[in-house]
Amino acid sequence: MELKDKTIIITGASSGIGASAASLFAAEGANVVLGARREELLKAQVQAIQSKGGSACYLSGDVCDADYAQALVDLAISQYGGLDGALNNAGMMGDMCPLPDMPLENWNAVLTTNLTSAFHAAKAQIPVLGKQGGGSIVFTSSFVGFSNGGMTGMGAYAASKAGMIGLVKSLAADHASEQIRINALLPGGTKTPMAGDDPAGHEFIAGLHPMKRMASPQEIAQAALFLLSDRSSFVTGCPLIADGGVSVRLA
Ligand SMILES: NC(=O)c1ccc[n+]([C@@H]2O[C@H](COP(=O)([O-])OP(=O)(O)OC[C@H]3O[C@@H](n4cnc5c(N)ncnc54)[C@H](OP(=O)(O)O)[C@@H]3O)[C@@H](O)[C@H]2O)c1
Repeated sequence: MELKDKTIIITGASSGIGASAASLFAAEGANVVLGARREELLKAQVQAIQSKGGSACYLSGDVCDADYAQALVDLAISQYGGLDGALNNAGMMGDMCPLPDMPLENWNAVLTTNLTSAFHAAKAQIPVLGKQGGGSIVFTSSFVGFSNGGMTGMGAYAASKAGMIGLVKSLAADHASEQIRINALLPGGTKTPMAGDDPAGHEFIAGLHPMKRMASPQEIAQAALFLLSDRSSFVTGCPLIADGGVSVRLA
């Protein structure tokens, strides 16, 4: 029970890494507050968690909306009396293409969904954690924001995920004295809907990784669990790389 009685917001909880984190954190004793746009999937997640004796609620919305970030915090407080942490994990890949061919609309959509959403989340979450005497915030970045790893056409996605690492370091410095730990999680290629379901695509991505496979979303959720639990009590401002070695791969 690594998260017993802790209340944790998880965005991107309708699918992939966020959905795995929701199940894992609830099994570890957390009250989980789930966010994403697809309400039916969130509802099913909550029912599945509750059927196993876990504690969960949801609110659907768009992470690009500052009011939604605040509403998730308000829901945590109204349902469970406070907030102990968040896995700000919702994200999109956008179009993969060389930057000269990239429409501004794609750049803006990726930066807003992946990076401006982090700004909204931090603004809503930090004051509450500060008042409570501390907590842990995790942002899901990517190996692509750190090492590229051999991926091409990822200008917008890489910029958004690298921006998160800079944001995390700055926020960690600003709020460490309030005992708020703020870290980034950098998964390698992970078998989720974002990575598609084309076996040839999976084989290509797996081949980029020295471990010659992709991660399961459950493996990445375990790394998030570490950052949200007290086991990482002296870890802050850290880009935690969980990437099967892709960042140490020779080009
Ligand atoms: N899969 C990988 O290889 C990989 C590698 C490194 C990092 N990541 C990162 O891991 C995170 C989770 O991705 P995943 O692989 O689990 O992909 P996924 O299965 O496609 O999940 C993405 C999640 O983000 C939510 N989301 C997207 N845009 C949103 C918006 N505007 N508002 C609210 N929710 C939104 C989606 O929910 P709705 O559609 O219901 O809104 C979904 O729950 C992302 O930040 C991704 O960049 C993934």
